[in-house]
Amino acid sequence: MSLAIVTGGSRGLGFETARALKAQGHDILLVAKDPERLKTAAATLQCDYRAVDLEDLQATKRTFEEILATFGSPQILVLAHGVMSEKMSKTLKTTLDEWRRVMAINLDSVFTVVNILGPSMAEARNGRIVIFSACLGRMSGPGNAGGLAPYRISKAGVNALVRNLAHETGHGTRGLLVDAVCPNHTRTDMGGADAPLSIEEGADTAIWLATRLFDPSIEKTGLLWEERAVIDW
Ligand SMILES: NC(=O)c1ccc[n+]([C@@H]2O[C@H](COP(=O)([O-])OP(=O)(O)OC[C@H]3O[C@@H](n4cnc5c(N)ncnc54)[C@H](OP(=O)(O)O)[C@@H]3O)[C@@H](O)[C@H]2O)c1
Repeated sequence: MSLAIVTGGSRGLGFETARALKAQGHDILLVAKDPERLKTAAATLQCDYRAVDLEDLQATKRTFEEILATFGSPQILVLAHGVMSEKMSKTLKTTLDEWRRVMAINLDSVFTVVNILGPSMAEARNGRIVIFSACLGRMSGPGNAGGLAPYRISKAGVNALVRNLAHETGHGTRGLLVDAVCPNHTRTDMGGADAPLSIEEGADTAIWLATRLFDPSIEKTGLLWEERAVIDW
């Protein structure tokens, strides 16, 4: 069986993605911060887990090096962790501490994990990396009119990382797919109870990207997806 590693796997969109991948027969390794919540989630899915604060990049590096040494290279890597920035975090109002917190968790840790697991996935020529971005990180489309600066800019950075990595790895022609997903406003702890989408709806595109049949002469990778369709960055 192939291994799927899911960060943010303790709850919300990450847990739902892991649940669906487990149901499709993958071995699952969950990663999140809160050890008790993670333990409960892993018990529900009967899978392995590792707790780490992804804001701490040295701990993140150590944890993922240990994961690689213990479990080997994953076939699927879903990065679904993330934090929202504080409400009053406009560029001229926020602080360096808040900027660094959100950048470390939402962007620097994404680089760190991909940098550690990506080489063996690329070498295996059969891997999928799916990273939760957000419509708030887009440079086009509705809803990108400022505010929440650390969050928006961290997600714009995620988009740039995905595009860059796809170019560096041959856009799927060498067997490694890398995509960003905008789940849209979903009823999770982050999205809130009044969000329009259920967790199943919010996770659908990520699950599909992680498992879709891929013919590089027809299909595309290295893009931003919403509801199983490509949208502009
Ligand atoms: N929900 C939405 O409407 C929406 C919309 C657009 C994009 N997104 C994106 O989708 C992804 C999933 O969001 P969600 O709604 O499922 O969020 P959520 O319910 O708030 O869950 C966040 C997850 O990230 C983990 N996490 C947060 N900080 C961490 C840290 N420092 N170290 C390790 N793990 C950490 C949490 O782990 P613990 O349980 O241990 O805290 C939890 O598993 C995020 O990247 C988010 O930006 C969500």
